[in-house]
Amino acid sequence: MTGGAGFIGSHVVDAFLAEGADVFVIDDLSTGSVDNVSGAAEFARVDIVDEPALAEALAAFGPDLVCHLAAQASVTVSVERPEHDLAVNVRGTLNVCEAARAAGAPVVFASTGGALYGNEAPLPTPEEFPPAPLAPYGASKQAGEAYVSTWGRLHGLPNVVLRLGNVYGPRQLPHGEAGVVAIFSDRLGRGEPLVVYGFGEPTRDYVHVSDVARAFVAAAHAGRPGTFNVGTARETSVRELLELLQREAGTQVEPDLQPLRPGELNRSALDPARIERELGWRAEVPVERGLPETFRAFVPA
Ligand SMILES: NC(=O)c1ccc[n+]([C@@H]2O[C@H](COP(=O)([O-])OP(=O)(O)OC[C@H]3O[C@@H](n4cnc5c(N)ncnc54)[C@H](O)[C@@H]3O)[C@@H](O)[C@H]2O)c1
Repeated sequence: MTGGAGFIGSHVVDAFLAEGADVFVIDDLSTGSVDNVSGAAEFARVDIVDEPALAEALAAFGPDLVCHLAAQASVTVSVERPEHDLAVNVRGTLNVCEAARAAGAPVVFASTGGALYGNEAPLPTPEEFPPAPLAPYGASKQAGEAYVSTWGRLHGLPNVVLRLGNVYGPRQLPHGEAGVVAIFSDRLGRGEPLVVYGFGEPTRDYVHVSDVARAFVAAAHAGRPGTFNVGTARETSVRELLELLQREAGTQVEPDLQPLRPGELNRSALDPARIERELGWRAEVPVERGLPETFRAFVPA
């Protein structure tokens, strides 16, 4: 597992450990933390861009499956530092594909649904709609997908691409600019002012991290290749999201409304029909339950 010290990766680690799997985490700790990694998993601090170090670490463990979540995962960083985004998300992903192939292991890749389809996509968006990313992050994830799927075909491995919606839940970092649920929860908990981009109108498909972790396990069990949206088909606006969190927090903070930042989408919702049909996966946590629970994970009552 790469990126297992990060927000989503650490939940994926826990889901596989709960299945009785032996889990080996590779992470450079650039945004992740060892505190997120269960003591039941092995850990090595490795940069996936460092091809020999990655190959050596994976070969020593000998995986049956590689879940690849390590990434430069920020849209705004990708706009500011596209070369870095490319190095981690494309070169790093190619390195992971190669190291997994050498071990004879398929790859399950964390791609993005939210940053891939662009503003012209029908909602909810099916996988067939051609990607039209608005930021380097979407472009590098699209390239990563191409390597993962091509390596599967080239080497006869059932590689899987999971296009995740906007994932939220405990352990998401409230620092930086990613993860609006974590940021709002943190600010509301401290009684601090908050900025809402896009004047509260943009919508996202918010999917709980526990549901996302189950999607990785479902993909592992299926043992068949494919590209799947991991979402709920439901749009929630930033305004609605803030209302749900404020209700739980007991606050009525007036946000500072700002325009959208470069590279950000207006609306997004993913059609999960294919993953429901082929892998039997369906999101189980509605935002009405997941958002208050997540707020309480950040700000205990
Ligand atoms: N959070 C979301 O809503 C979302 C949506 C769609 C896709 N994704 C994807 O899911 C994955 C996990 O995202 P996250 O939200 O948990 O972010 P995160 O930043 O918490 O996790 C990424 C992890 O990768 C590690 N990492 C970064 N560069 C690395 C490198 N060069 N070598 C080794 N490790 C490295 C980081 O230290 C971190 O632990 C990413 O691939 C991201 O693109 C996330």
